[in-house]
Amino acid sequence: MIEFLNVWKAFSGQTVLRGLTLSIQRGEILFIIGASGVGKSVTIKHVIGLLRLDRGEVWFDGQRVDQLEESEFYAVRRRCAMVFQHSTLFDSLSVVDNVALPLSKHRKLSQAQARERALGFLDRVHMRDFAEAFPAALSDGMRKRVAIARALTLEPECLLFDEPTTGLDPVSARRVDALIRELKETLNVTCVVVSHDLTSIFSIADRIAFLYQGRVHALGTPSELRVSSDAVVQQFVRGLSEGPMETPGF
Ligand SMILES: Nc1ncnc2c1ncn2[C@@H]1O[C@H](COP(=O)(O)OP(=O)(O)OP(=O)(O)O)[C@@H](O)[C@H]1O
Ligand SMILES: [Mg+2]
Repeated sequence: MIEFLNVWKAFSGQTVLRGLTLSIQRGEILFIIGASGVGKSVTIKHVIGLLRLDRGEVWFDGQRVDQLEESEFYAVRRRCAMVFQHSTLFDSLSVVDNVALPLSKHRKLSQAQARERALGFLDRVHMRDFAEAFPAALSDGMRKRVAIARALTLEPECLLFDEPTTGLDPVSARRVDALIRELKETLNVTCVVVSHDLTSIFSIADRIAFLYQGRVHALGTPSELRVSSDAVVQQFVRGLSEGPMETPGF
């Protein structure tokens, strides 16, 4: 579904991605993990053209996308939606209007039709009861679920999640995990999840890519990574389970 081939990316002299290669299968839940600043968010942003690589190739469903014009990315973004780390809801719009917005804009539905469809998506994330609330009145976990509902409106084949559970209480975090799993199982949505959340990583990932020094340093199933003899992987996984998120020296 998504392929990164020898991707290089630098920002004003600081090289972040150094020949990153990664192949993501259709319908899988692939987690991208690694220390803060290693380039996880940068990596996924390349899929939908939010960043442009310096060298290498990025493919989406058989189409090379790294060389597309900005206008050509619209089609990719309809098929592959991103749920950003921080809420990107419009504070001045109610929950249902936030979710209805892409429907009236891109699907050319009437306001009433778009709201009706939006309610269906809110149901899916268990937020229908809050349809008329405004984002400011919601918890972080609720806002995240609304953002996921909004990302679902265009029925993407692929979802990119940037730290979907960071900052959430454990109950909300597990709800988001369950939702991601459900999207994969019921709709065969390919999910790419950037995360530091060990519980999510080891409970819902099909495979995990561990980024280190600008490349995929280790790739495997959760059980493969758990027993990895690689010292860097072990140190990282132990560091996460012991609490501190930032691992100096990575
Ligand atoms: N638009 C940008 N302009 C300049 N530098 C950037 C930009 N985006 C990212 N960077 C730099 O690239 C590096 C990797 O950033 P990235 O956001 O991918 O880290 P990350 O792995 O997602 O970390 P975290 O876990 O903290 O979110 C950082 O040093 C960051 O400062
Ligand atoms: Mg990030």
